[in-house]
Amino acid sequence: MRVAIVGAGVIGVTSALAVKNAFPSYDVKIFADAFSPDTTGDGSAGLWSPYLLGDTPIDNITRWASCTHQWFEQLWKAGLSSKTGVSLIPVTRVTSDCEDDINKQWTKLVYGFQKITDEKLQRLNEEHKSNYKQAWHFITYTAEPFLLLPWLMERFIALGGKVEKRNIKTLHELAEEGYDLIINCSGLGARELVADKTVTSIRGQVYRVKAPWAMHCFLVDDDSCNYIIPNVNNVVLGGTHQEDDFDCSVREEDSKSIYDGCCRMMPSLKACKIIRAWVGLRPGRPRVRLECETLSSPTGKEIKVIHNYGHGGSGVTLCWGCATDVVEMIRNLKVQELNSKL
Ligand code: BEZ
Repeated sequence: MRVAIVGAGVIGVTSALAVKNAFPSYDVKIFADAFSPDTTGDGSAGLWSPYLLGDTPIDNITRWASCTHQWFEQLWKAGLSSKTGVSLIPVTRVTSDCEDDINKQWTKLVYGFQKITDEKLQRLNEEHKSNYKQAWHFITYTAEPFLLLPWLMERFIALGGKVEKRNIKTLHELAEEGYDLIINCSGLGARELVADKTVTSIRGQVYRVKAPWAMHCFLVDDDSCNYIIPNVNNVVLGGTHQEDDFDCSVREEDSKSIYDGCCRMMPSLKACKIIRAWVGLRPGRPRVRLECETLSSPTGKEIKVIHNYGHGGSGVTLCWGCATDVVEMIRNLKVQELNSKL
């Protein structure tokens, strides 16, 4: 069985590793035009937190996110933090929204979730010169792709997985080369690869700074979408979420609102050393696409495709859950194939 994975972001590489792990005899190859450290994920902080998922059904989000959270917990407990970049981090999430967010299912997945008392909220508002209506504390993981991706790739190659740097233009190209199954993890590239124009860019700009004294994550869940997310070697300050915006250049006005917004939350950041500003285009979609499809190539060849793309700002958060579903879909395909031969 020959399997081609298109895409080497966190979704592609986790899918590749999970498939090779589950089916060691399969010939599995990743095709991509960009590999770590040049993927969109490499610039992100990798905080586990469902974000920018459109109308993806909440039960799917919870299942995928829960599976991934448990996987991070295993990596963390196994002492693999320095290799994988998986770290435990305290988070304060605030919102200027009045709507009670507490029923969100993901709140049951993190550790020690609690709503901040009115008294503490008032103090936080005084400190941040803000008008938050609600705030929550919890502890969760970051899995920074800059460290996680090379580790996953090393594991994949150690199991006999292959990689090729190539821009795949059509899935038929791989069908003609004899691949039996394609796993489409092309992210934003799905716009061209499978002409899915519902996939669009959600532009994100961040700063990476040196501020080793910042050890607490702050997320502002409103239009300002400022955040401070400490990583192993530096801190990510964010952010933006501009829809249908494909501009990869750093914008001065975004830099200013990120810097000012984050310094308002944590004034000590004024002393930080800026390493770089960075822009990444998240693969937004009305909902994550994780499903199987059978395509016919122009020469009449039938090919099975498993689509796994459109994860918005939640590639890290959902990656292992989605990869596990990909493996399950392959098992189901095998059962169908056996039944059709009976
Ligand atoms: C982001 O995509 O910018 C993001 C994702 C999860 C948590 C915070 C930020």
